[in-house]
Amino acid sequence: MNEIKAPKGTRDIFSPEIRKWHFLENAIHTYYRKFLYQEIRTPIFEHSELFSRGIGSETEVVQKEMYTFSDKSDRSLTLRPENTASVVRAAIENNLFEAIAPLRFYYIGPMFRYDKPQKGRYRQFQQFGIEVFADDSPQVDAEVIFSAIDFLKKLKIEDIRLDLNSVGCPQCRPAYLQVLRKAARAEGDRFCADCRRKIDGNPLRIFDCKQPGCMEVAGRLPLIHDHLCAACRDHFAAVREALSWMNVSFQINPRLVRGLDYYTKTAFEVTSGQLGAQNALLGGGRYNNLIQELGGPDMAGIGFAAGMERIILHLEHLGTPAPKVLFVAYQEPQWLPHAVQMAQVLREEGYPVYVDYQAKNLKKQFKRADRVGAAFTLILAEDEIQSGSVSIKDMASQEQIKISLKDLNEWLKKNY
Ligand code: HAM
Repeated sequence: MNEIKAPKGTRDIFSPEIRKWHFLENAIHTYYRKFLYQEIRTPIFEHSELFSRGIGSETEVVQKEMYTFSDKSDRSLTLRPENTASVVRAAIENNLFEAIAPLRFYYIGPMFRYDKPQKGRYRQFQQFGIEVFADDSPQVDAEVIFSAIDFLKKLKIEDIRLDLNSVGCPQCRPAYLQVLRKAARAEGDRFCADCRRKIDGNPLRIFDCKQPGCMEVAGRLPLIHDHLCAACRDHFAAVREALSWMNVSFQINPRLVRGLDYYTKTAFEVTSGQLGAQNALLGGGRYNNLIQELGGPDMAGIGFAAGMERIILHLEHLGTPAPKVLFVAYQEPQWLPHAVQMAQVLREEGYPVYVDYQAKNLKKQFKRADRVGAAFTLILAEDEIQSGSVSIKDMASQEQIKISLKDLNEWLKKNY
């Protein structure tokens, strides 16, 4: 029979790598609660319209990368390619604007993009992200960015670069887009067919194109930077100033436009020198119109999301250690009930405990104890049962001692 493989661009995660995931997930929960973020879990599929309206119908994500399907009632649904639109949808639908203060959310979960798989790029990948609503202060932008950098540093990810830009707002962007369109039209045939189409739709998306020819031409195009309105300029200056209070270094990158249409004002990305082509560890920015565009109140928003597989690639040296196992062995099958009861008591005490029901003799059980990585094997035999004691074999040193059952707890506290 043909073997069924996991779909292209997906992967199974298991031990020992899974321990890095546990470590990272715990770190996220602990770190972001310090800034009063609360976890939010939204469905992994949504009405397709949420993403076409939220992310923008001209974006690569919406045009090429969405897993969209019709369900049995002919509704168009999409596996979420990102979570900002979903968090906004959830806040509007559940009226969280009234219920939760401050309006700060974090999430951890799978996202789906039909992208060309390679190292660090998958079709199902895991993001963690944060979103702050109802605060337009530039210091919040700086705090969000600081938290991203500080979190990576706490994970000992040091070789990173922060790119920062302002992408303007509905006050200044339309005039800039006219200028950009005009300049792009003058370059005409030098662009790929995709980019030529973008000139009339959303010419900002030309900056996303990875074709070397287009990148070269894009290098000559006018930049939003020189066309910001006073409010955007002031906001950007205040963000930079607050970043300096927080000791965060950054590079201004006037070509950083981000691949999603909802951004206004601040946009940023963190890349790693240790990753290859897929070097973006995280990206985010402000989205002051998205909440209203999706039917909510006129309310500001800012956040970022990080690719967790890419972070995991940096965690070679970290991870929760393998659990130290206690193995309870029995010399003859008749002592199995004692072994089972001892295992129950030890698990209640918090130890990971394994009993092998298949191996019928001690030699086989010792082999098994090695296989499951036991630190100690506790042995029950006639002698031990009669005298109310237990033998303990240290699996590393192979030394064996016998102690009274009433001293077991004390012994484990000292030696485990
Ligand atoms: P994004 O830049 O599209 O932003 O994705 C954020 C991060 O997700 C990327 O920097 C990358 O690390 C990771 N990522 C994206 N695509 C893949 C992939 N195919 N495989 C592995 N990792 C990937 C967003 O998603 C926005 N929602 C961020 C945001 C939150 N903006 C404001 N709030």
